[in-house]
Amino acid sequence: MIIAIDGPAAAGKGTLARRIAAALNLPYLDTGLLYRAVGRRVLDAGADPADPEAATQAAKSLTSADLARTDLRGGPADKAASQVASIPGVRAALLEFQRHFGTENGAVLDGRDIGTVIFPDADVKFFVTASLQTRAARRHAELLGRGNDVTLEAVRADLVARDEADANRKAAPLVAANDAIHFDTTTLDADAAFERAMELIKSREK
Ligand code: CDP
Repeated sequence: MIIAIDGPAAAGKGTLARRIAAALNLPYLDTGLLYRAVGRRVLDAGADPADPEAATQAAKSLTSADLARTDLRGGPADKAASQVASIPGVRAALLEFQRHFGTENGAVLDGRDIGTVIFPDADVKFFVTASLQTRAARRHAELLGRGNDVTLEAVRADLVARDEADANRKAAPLVAANDAIHFDTTTLDADAAFERAMELIKSREK
């Protein structure tokens, strides 16, 4: 079974995906990490994350050690991830890995283009959203918890800029698949969102 979870930044995709995967005993892939790791490699090399050649090269040589890094979240890493993610060569280099991840045992994957490009035939597709206010507050708390010193205003501005870039790029833009279940978590905490999602998955299985 393939479950695709897409949506804008900080909508709660990761938390939801992780819990669904654990409940259904499925492997979980946070595909945002792939783009974050590519962006980080480009930054470390002193190159520009908007440079197609540098970014595509980094995507082609990505290793599991790159994905295990602890500095893939926060201001510069977020922006670099979104920049490299708009480059077709980067997306092409990461496509097979994502498809392969889900083909053997099924999987839960979260990202921006899982239900549209990576697994257009996924069994269940969620498009997870929440109000900007809620997303900014959640991400702000998360970053403070990690020790990042950042204002709510800066977090909100980053989310708006990234969503706009993700939704307006030509390569695999952030958009809900036609058959996705729209899932608004503004008024749901993590437990309530998980329970509701499991109900929806079970109703699809019947
Ligand atoms: O956790 P958050 O929602 O803030 O971001 P993420 O899921 O880790 O994704 C980081 C960035 O990677 C996004 O802003 C997208 O530009 C890009 N991305 C993508 O283009 N396609 C995906 N399947 C996943 C992430």
